[in-house]
Amino acid sequence: ISVNEKITILGVETSCDDTGIAVLNLRPCENNPKKINLTVLSNKLASQTDIHNEYGGVVPELASREHLRALLPLTEEAIRESKIDLPNLSHIAVTAGPGLKGSLLTGLNFSSGLAAALNIPIIPVNHLEGHVMAAFIDTQLGFEPTKAFPFLTLLISGGHTQIILAEEFGRYTLLGETLDDAVGEAFDKTSKLLGLGYPGGPEIERIAKAGNPHKFNFPKPLTDKKNLNFSFSGLKTAVSREIEKNRQGNNEWQSDIAASLQDTIANILCIKMKLAIELTNVKKVVVSGGVAANHKIRKSLSELCKSQNAALIVPRPEICADNGLMIAWVGALKAHYNYPFDEVIKVSPRWNLTDLHC
Ligand code: KG4
Ligand code: ZN
Repeated sequence: ISVNEKITILGVETSCDDTGIAVLNLRPCENNPKKINLTVLSNKLASQTDIHNEYGGVVPELASREHLRALLPLTEEAIRESKIDLPNLSHIAVTAGPGLKGSLLTGLNFSSGLAAALNIPIIPVNHLEGHVMAAFIDTQLGFEPTKAFPFLTLLISGGHTQIILAEEFGRYTLLGETLDDAVGEAFDKTSKLLGLGYPGGPEIERIAKAGNPHKFNFPKPLTDKKNLNFSFSGLKTAVSREIEKNRQGNNEWQSDIAASLQDTIANILCIKMKLAIELTNVKKVVVSGGVAANHKIRKSLSELCKSQNAALIVPRPEICADNGLMIAWVGALKAHYNYPFDEVIKVSPRWNLTDLHC
């Protein structure tokens, strides 16, 4: 395969409620062309949490409007910070799915206009592939595909809970996923029930510090099954029942609920990841998605991986959560390997990671 020599790419992420814009540079290593060097030139994020906070979740119409408002100034900021001029860009990468249709369309329309004006190619990127590959953004010594793969990804966010086997760049197998709520939703819904803010994860983690993780015995659905699927909707019901029972007392029980919930979720994730390692015999685990910021979950997974002799990679929180950098990175790899893509890109709100041809 022929490879593109030098790529300076703008990444645009608008699949949910965060606008992410990043610029990065990619080139093969001089002394080892199989190895890829990447330099992050800028990575900007406009978060909409203040707007959605009031509603306890993301409101799609508001999300599109805010993306529209943020895209241009954020891109100007990213370009300024990266110290390049717009005509220096060689490509634009944009999230084409999965995600909220209106939000995706806003990002795609903006990116298409910019790519047409600059007369450069625009590359569609799957948001989930961004999360999977995000693990290698910080590799100081360059990215070497033959060494990086295979690995297991545990993707835990507000929209997704999946275990993915990454066999090589562009080839992924979904091993299991949630049958109902995502892990992040379990945090967000509990936070709402306790009268705390959105996103709920950081709130639950904060109050859990003072709580007893063994106070409440919450269910762990599907953990007795020898498959890699999850179910979290029952947790919300169990939590709301306990909240009803305890409402009269002092406030200590709130911390106990938060700590017990966090402990239960960490436990469920570990049981399934242990099984995933056993079933695949793959000894490298990448954790991604906003929930990966949780310290208790990180600690439990780290202990699990140690006991299984597996390596664990958890990217920095800014790279775990939604961001433009992971989109730029996947787009740059696609450009580097001359991946084919359609000239006219459409958004695919339900785009599956195992079917990468949009
Ligand atoms: O990946 P992300 O930023 O956006 C998508 O959902 O794609 O993930 C957001 C989710 C929210 O549900 C939020 O509550 C959760 O990640 N989250 C956390 C923490 N920080 C964010 N969950 C648990 N503990 C945290 N510290
Ligand atoms: Zn995401």
